[in-house]
Amino acid sequence: MDFHHIPVMLTECIEGLAIDPDGIYVDGTAGGAGHSSAIAAKLSEKGRLIALDRDPDAVAVATERLSKFSNAQVIHSNYSEIRSVLDRLEIDSVDGILMDLGVSSFQLDEGMISSIPTRRLNWQG
Ligand SMILES: C[S@@+](CC[C@H](N)C(=O)[O-])C[C@H]1O[C@@H](n2cnc3c(N)ncnc32)[C@H](O)[C@@H]1O
Repeated sequence: MDFHHIPVMLTECIEGLAIDPDGIYVDGTAGGAGHSSAIAAKLSEKGRLIALDRDPDAVAVATERLSKFSNAQVIHSNYSEIRSVLDRLEIDSVDGILMDLGVSSFQLDEGMISSIPTRRLNWQG
């Protein structure tokens, strides 16, 4: 699976998050894990990255790409379920959330968009 995606405004996103190495961060749209990898790389072993994606293919790719980071966890979920995901993980607050709202080149190439209802394309979760 060639899940190639150039992370948008990577430097700006990472700067904007002002990552605390021991903090807890959520990537609500993990995709090919470009942003997630950059976040995880800035975290200590105490820090945590919770990476969500609703697309099982993206979850598989992100899981593989983030496997080298012990502080990262990929979860198959819609970001609209973020509260219940964090509850299940017994996390009651986070230090930052990233949402890269869009689709990946892989998803466009594979025609996955046709299966996403219009409401979803409006990114209402
Ligand atoms: C532009 S890609 C993200 C790319 C990622 N930031 C990276 O660096 O590789 C957008 C991702 O958001 C996911 N997505 C779209 N709507 C979502 C939702 N409601 N909940 C979770 N993930 C969603 C898509 O499946 C896709 O993988």
